Amino acid sequence: MRVALVGLGAIGLGAHLPALLRHPFVDVVQLVDPDAGRRETAAATGVPAAAELDPAGVDGVVLATPPWVTPELAVRYAEAGLFVLAEKPVATSVDAARIYDRLDGEQRRRVQVGLTYRHDPAIRQLKTWIDDGTLGTPVLVRAHIYDEAYDPANPEHTALITRTLEHGSPVVHEGAHIFDWLAYLLGAPTLHDAWSGATRPGLPAPNLVGARLGYPGGHRALVEFGWFTAALPRCELTFLGDRGLATLDGFTFDLRLSTADGDREVRFPGDRTTRCFDLQVQRFVELYDGTRKTGVPSLDDGIAALRTAQLVAGRAG
Ligand SMILES: NC(=O)c1ccc[n+]([C@@H]2O[C@H](COP(=O)([O-])OP(=O)(O)OC[C@H]3O[C@@H](n4cnc5c(N)ncnc54)[C@H](O)[C@@H]3O)[C@@H](O)[C@H]2O)c1
Repeated sequence: MRVALVGLGAIGLGAHLPALLRHPFVDVVQLVDPDAGRRETAAATGVPAAAELDPAGVDGVVLATPPWVTPELAVRYAEAGLFVLAEKPVATSVDAARIYDRLDGEQRRRVQVGLTYRHDPAIRQLKTWIDDGTLGTPVLVRAHIYDEAYDPANPEHTALITRTLEHGSPVVHEGAHIFDWLAYLLGAPTLHDAWSGATRPGLPAPNLVGARLGYPGGHRALVEFGWFTAALPRCELTFLGDRGLATLDGFTFDLRLSTADGDREVRFPGDRTTRCFDLQVQRFVELYDGTRKTGVPSLDDGIAALRTAQLVAGRAG
């Protein structure tokens, strides 16, 4: 599969490119970024780099671009007949995501969304524990998603997070992942209430957001998102039912299961990023070779997660 990588930023060069280069059936044929400095950073790979994609000789494109850029590119390349792996969130708002309505069924099914951590075996293990009653039912989920510590000594990171906040609070960016996992694990949500707050003046959006959601079968979720404070609470998700408690480390995805039978740790090989980005590329190749009929996660999954995140952001104010 001949793949072009568009967007040579932190996640493009740091995670997508290594995963693409590791895959035995992927040939990385073009690197694309309008920023000359980014192209220079990528020069060491020896892959030709350009400011614009030339779709000739390309089967699939990975869009590691900001979410305010991704929708237009995803539609353009899907309409050109390419397979598209588009980073999450699929847009910065449900309104902005309406551009995807231009795609016909065939173009739409060729889009896979970069909700990367859905691929982790830890998420599948949690689904088994929820579905087979290991935890008891219903479960109470507490998701504490804290990341992106504020470090004034790192102006590049500060600028990236400030720019990102200008396009929405952390729930829009992190919520894409969390609401996708919760939809996969529990079904379609109902929002009960939400709140937000800023920890200092001058931030472009609230940097703390929380919500209470209900899911089919009586499951409930209390979710919190926080960015950009000097120190951060532990990032973890807990799943509590009458029979047990499962704890997912938010960074490593190590699992702990506590039941009347005792405690059990479940760890999967390798680090989470390598594991998930490799699985993501594998699924993209399977979409291309016809093993999979639709992107996993699909464009609909990406839009559903965005819709929940936007509902929360809107209710939180
Ligand atoms: N799946 C994940 O786990 C994960 C992790 C981190 C970030 N992300 C997502 O990846 C995306 C990129 O994040 P990042 O941290 O790498 O940002 P970044 O700002 O470091 O990189 C984005 C790159 O896109 C380039 N770009 C901008 N407009 C472009 C255009 N029209 N054509 C081609 N390139 C263009 C920029 O020059 C930049 O190099 C975001 O949507 C973010 O939410 C996903």
